[in-house]
Amino acid sequence: MHDVLPEQIPSWRRLESVCRRVLDAYGYREIRLPVLEHAELFERSIGDTSDIVTKEMYTFADRNDERLTLRPEGTAGCVRAVLEHGLLNEGAQRLWYLGPMFRYEKPQKGRFRQFHQIGAEAFGFPGPDVDAELILMSARLWRELGLGGLSLEINNLGQAEARQRYRAVLLEYFSGHLDQLDADSRERQQKNPLRILDSKNPDLQSLILGAPTLDQFLDADSARDFARLREILDANSLEYRVNPRLVRGLDYYNGTVFEWLTDRLGAQSAVCAGGRYDELIAASGGRPAPAVGFAMGLERLIELAGQSTPRPEPDSPHAYLIAVAPEAQTRIMQVAEQLRDRVPGLRLVLNCGGGSFKSQFKKADRSGAAFALVLGETELQNGTVGFKPLRTAGEQQNLPLDQAAAELARHVEL
Ligand code: HAM
Repeated sequence: MHDVLPEQIPSWRRLESVCRRVLDAYGYREIRLPVLEHAELFERSIGDTSDIVTKEMYTFADRNDERLTLRPEGTAGCVRAVLEHGLLNEGAQRLWYLGPMFRYEKPQKGRFRQFHQIGAEAFGFPGPDVDAELILMSARLWRELGLGGLSLEINNLGQAEARQRYRAVLLEYFSGHLDQLDADSRERQQKNPLRILDSKNPDLQSLILGAPTLDQFLDADSARDFARLREILDANSLEYRVNPRLVRGLDYYNGTVFEWLTDRLGAQSAVCAGGRYDELIAASGGRPAPAVGFAMGLERLIELAGQSTPRPEPDSPHAYLIAVAPEAQTRIMQVAEQLRDRVPGLRLVLNCGGGSFKSQFKKADRSGAAFALVLGETELQNGTVGFKPLRTAGEQQNLPLDQAAAELARHVEL
């Protein structure tokens, strides 16, 4: 779990503001969700054979002995909120959220125990148009963020019966190779053999490559939707690879699934992933409604953005107010507040804690401010302020407060 230090904040703000703008532009509305939910919510929806539920959740009993979990992802909570507030009674919903998620994973580059996601979920749209919209929207995000080198993989998991048929065939296939499976996969073999396809164990890769693929078992509706999705992506010149072994690590998916991958973050290659989960709303007690969404990992995107574009500069102050008459503190604070009133958007830092004229000037310079404003006895008496540019040549001038405010306003607008 990491602190995000002030010097890293500009990158976070930039990422968040681009995402907000793009999500707004596609009609997705923000929803803010709690970090704690009942453990049962995740166990039921993410699935009891998933890594998240079996190994990675932070679950504890509260003072009332309720089992609570720090959310490992946002979809389950978003579905809970939509049902709890009857949002679907108002029609289909496009929603997005941002916030910290928690998984007890082995930390490494790009993989943390507290990480942040921005997720988008569309409820009540059967697709595949909205599936394509989500994918095109994510591609726009990469363009606007200036991120290159991301590749898209898509697959279709079909409906429940198709997966059931496929599961039986997989079970048979892996049963014939039990001696080659690792302990994890042997456990998955009985409960959910699809999970084995998700294994990252290099020793299993050739066995996995030899396994039958799901596309041979796909139901007609899913095959048609998948073709239509590809048609829309093609028409928008979006490149992708169909990966028949893309199954995702959470149990709620059916139909379309997709992942955006990079080869620049070591083993943690997925920066954004999602898909359809048409059965989750009904399974959560709601009236059946289709659903699809994705989530992206902000730490991974920030790391990638840092590799391709220079880190954005923090916003330095416009002005630094030097107070050489500490006995007139009350008056100085008033002047600072008046300047803030008159110049909307002004970033003004007040020298607090006193100090000699020289040391205050040094601090003004170090703050990165464009101007130093000097308030001594004479200035206070005359209603003026010493106005000195710090980043360009120029002498200190003595300006009436109004004029200083006007100069600052011009600078703020630039
Ligand atoms: P997920 O694939 O588990 O899907 O996570 C989505 C993204 O979160 C990953 O692609 C990755 O970028 C980021 N991520 C996951 N775990 C970590 C970690 N330990 N450290 C850093 N980043 C991480 C979901 O969470 C689904 N709820 C996505 C979804 C939304 N499907 C439908 N709607």
